[in-house]
Amino acid sequence: MRTQVGIVGAGPAGLLLAHLLEREGIESVVLEDRSRRYVEERVRAGLLEQGTADVLERSGVGERMRREGLVHHGIELRFDGASHRIAITDLTGRSIMIYGQQEVVKDLIAARLACGGPILFEVSDVALEGLDARSPAISATQAGTRIRIECDYIAGCDGTHGVCRGFIPGGVLTHFEREYPFAWLGILAKAPPVSHELIYSRHQRGFALYTMRSPSLTRAYLQCKPDEDLAAWSDRRIWDELHVRLQGGAKRLEEGEIVLRGVTPMRSYVCEPMQYGRLFLAGDAAHIVPPTGAKGLNLAVHDICVLAQALVAAYRGERSLLERYSERCLRRVWRAEHFSWWMTSMLHRFDGDDPFQERLQLAQLEYVTGSRAAATSMAENYAGLPYEEHGR
Ligand code: FAD
Ligand code: DHB
Repeated sequence: MRTQVGIVGAGPAGLLLAHLLEREGIESVVLEDRSRRYVEERVRAGLLEQGTADVLERSGVGERMRREGLVHHGIELRFDGASHRIAITDLTGRSIMIYGQQEVVKDLIAARLACGGPILFEVSDVALEGLDARSPAISATQAGTRIRIECDYIAGCDGTHGVCRGFIPGGVLTHFEREYPFAWLGILAKAPPVSHELIYSRHQRGFALYTMRSPSLTRAYLQCKPDEDLAAWSDRRIWDELHVRLQGGAKRLEEGEIVLRGVTPMRSYVCEPMQYGRLFLAGDAAHIVPPTGAKGLNLAVHDICVLAQALVAAYRGERSLLERYSERCLRRVWRAEHFSWWMTSMLHRFDGDDPFQERLQLAQLEYVTGSRAAATSMAENYAGLPYEEHGR
């Protein structure tokens, strides 16, 4: 088999790349190790920056998002038993959108299949070769048969546990990493959200985030231990903990049946550069942020916009944008790394925190909610800084 761009991973990054390339007349093949159903039902992110929503809209996959997504103009920060609103739109002129990542994935798969573009689901043993040659190749096993796809370029969009990064020779990449001593226990519940806006709460017992997926579905997260035993968390215990950690609002949370629960580890990671020869890493395959700032999916979409534009230019004979791919992504990546680390540090309880540390967190929260300058800085990062013009 031969294609122009071989894409490993059918998460938001890989699917969006295939979609943007298709619109420019560039062929690709997407390889995914899970089933279509699995990727369409994997519940993860929910918050899209305005820039992300704009990219989906402009590229023709925003129709359902426009109908079903919830546009928000602010968030709440809770601490010390009181709630404070950060007026994102008033402060930045930008809004944010709640629309589940799995819905974005469904829309992108539907667009891909509608134009007849190939996605090979349930492949295994993906291997890359010839990354520094003119024509690299991907091989994989599909339904018991080994296939080989020759490409001009390969996009490694296979997430944090993917294999593509591992095919870059030793010594090329520098890895930057930070582990956090906690995780998030996330739930999805059949309960109407009590607040129209997201609530980020710092509490003595640990951080809690209250968010939503629709007018009848609540999503919430509780800071927990990295090795938290889900079996120890009955529905009752989860709701009790949410009531306690989210206290400070005018209304009591509505409870409902918990239909999904899981534990997400927290990690910061960046590899530099994000490319080697004809392999380009994008999204979680190249960088991870702790979810507190809601940046992971949004960064993946930004990487893909930069990569798609560079590939289009390369097919027109101008390779310099591809050569500068990493450099053009990493500036935004590091800004988001800092913001995500900062939000995480301000809102979570760290083991061994002493009263001094607690006062520092509260002083920071009071500053962010009390100073227009500090609130604006937080709001512009949260809503997402405008994309740089990549024509340069
Ligand atoms: P992925 O979505 O991980 O996609 C990679 C794909 O590659 C997967 O389909 C995987 O099955 C496939 N794959 C892996 N290995 C192989 C292989 N060897 N061969 C073939 N295929 C392979 N981000 C936000 O922006 N906003 C939020 O609100 C937010 N909240 C989050 C909440 C939680 C609880 C979590 C866990 C994450 C959150 N994120 C958020 C982060 C966001 O979900 C990720 O950053 C996003 O999924 C990255 O997309 P991706 O396409 O790069 O990677
Ligand atoms: C959601 C997840 C986040 O990590 C976040 O910061 C905001 C919203 C969500 O799942 O809706």
